[in-house]
Amino acid sequence: MNLPDLNKARIRTDKKVEFKNNSYNFPKAFEGKKFFLKTYGCQMNVHDSEEIRKYLELLGFSETKELTMADIVVLNTCAIRENAHDKVFGYLGRCKHLKHENPDLLICLGGCMSQEESVVNEIKNKHPYVDIIFGTHNINELPKLILEAKHKQDIEVYSIEGDVYENVLYSRDSKITAWVNIMYGCDKFCTYCIVPYTRGKQRSRKLSDILTEVEELKQNNYQEVTLLGQNVNAYGKDLEEPETFANLLEKVAQTGIPRVRFVTSHPWDFTSEMIDVIAKYDNIMPYIHLPIQSGSDRILKLMGRRYTKEEYLRLFNEIKEKIKNVSITTDIIVGFPNETEEDFLETLDIVKKCQFDGAFTFIYSPREGTPASLIKDNVSLKEKESRLARLNELVNQYSLANNRKLEGKLVPVLILGISEKDKNKLYGYTDTMKLVNVSGDKSLIGQIVNVKILAAKSFSLDGVSE
Ligand code: 5AD
Ligand code: SF4
Repeated sequence: MNLPDLNKARIRTDKKVEFKNNSYNFPKAFEGKKFFLKTYGCQMNVHDSEEIRKYLELLGFSETKELTMADIVVLNTCAIRENAHDKVFGYLGRCKHLKHENPDLLICLGGCMSQEESVVNEIKNKHPYVDIIFGTHNINELPKLILEAKHKQDIEVYSIEGDVYENVLYSRDSKITAWVNIMYGCDKFCTYCIVPYTRGKQRSRKLSDILTEVEELKQNNYQEVTLLGQNVNAYGKDLEEPETFANLLEKVAQTGIPRVRFVTSHPWDFTSEMIDVIAKYDNIMPYIHLPIQSGSDRILKLMGRRYTKEEYLRLFNEIKEKIKNVSITTDIIVGFPNETEEDFLETLDIVKKCQFDGAFTFIYSPREGTPASLIKDNVSLKEKESRLARLNELVNQYSLANNRKLEGKLVPVLILGISEKDKNKLYGYTDTMKLVNVSGDKSLIGQIVNVKILAAKSFSLDGVSE
């Protein structure tokens, strides 16, 4: 296994760390003990938690979904907006209370918040009951930290990323769909975004390593892989022998795995070649998440997004023309510092023009250390909230209208399991990534079946298997 070169990394703690875990032969020191793992944030964190879970299982822990039953709690945190912070600190309060009752409880904090110096300081000063703080670059050190835990706060966070390391083991959430990292970090440095600081610079995995992982998943009967990166279109640019995402996507499709997806795309690196590959292969799903962030050229420039509204529209239209039946979703931020009503109307305008299948909408949240956080803002929170509500109304209208177009149609759905809300129903996703609650037999779980859509809502569909 290639290990990260930690000598390259600046170690934030005063202790010199040697990387020792170069094998997976950890002692099963915690047999009979239980872990509780809570994940916040994006798919990258969800996938990192699959790695964390594997380490905990290798140490002998078994999972509990009840916080109060846990011998060890691991919080895998998100830093993208302030409310993500608030949630974690709220949850830490509950953990503190439990630790009072059970002083042997180990509390570990990992993920993007750990990469923020101010958060680490706050935990050091105000939350001494947190035993272990580990970062996004050294998840693989968690077993060592747990084995050596002394119930005295231990902080191991590297502020600079190491190399990509391979042969990572995962305890995956699903036996049907799998995440596959194709790259780590991001070099785009959008001015509002903390990700390049918490996840480091872009590091692509080698194409051959990715294909090996996909082949193995296919052999294990996985029906779907989602290629994962902060900005997948920039895949391969940083490799010694540069690669393109279009080529990777084509090679992954050629493995014959039934469904291939990818997230997230940045409009800047989205090439016509990529669109052609997606259009060519039936097993590359016709679904693209294409964050626009704003419809105002002035704001896009301030955000450092490197495209104009017109350029986004041109790309959007090319995708719609070439990829039959494609669905496109987006991310939008309202209330970027000093966003005017005119700027906001431009955002509403692009939503009207694109009629997105869905949109994740956010109020801008200043992140410490990012360039945008230094801009003095004259827009009130009340105004921002009102813009968000106006935007959501429009966005939901188009989601519903797009979903309604499927009523009465037969669509392919990968059935993933039993619906949480209605235990008599199954749930799954269409090729276009729409959630469907399906009436059908449990034996369909894990299969791609044709489903007749009976009714559409804004965020889901109801259907029956044919
Ligand atoms: N404030 C609000 N939203 C943000 N996002 C990223 N950074 C911020 C921020 N500081 C949103 C963007 C991105 C999504 C994952 O989160 O829309 O695409
Ligand atoms: Fe953040 Fe921009 Fe990178 Fe996306 S592309 S992770 S918004 S810096």
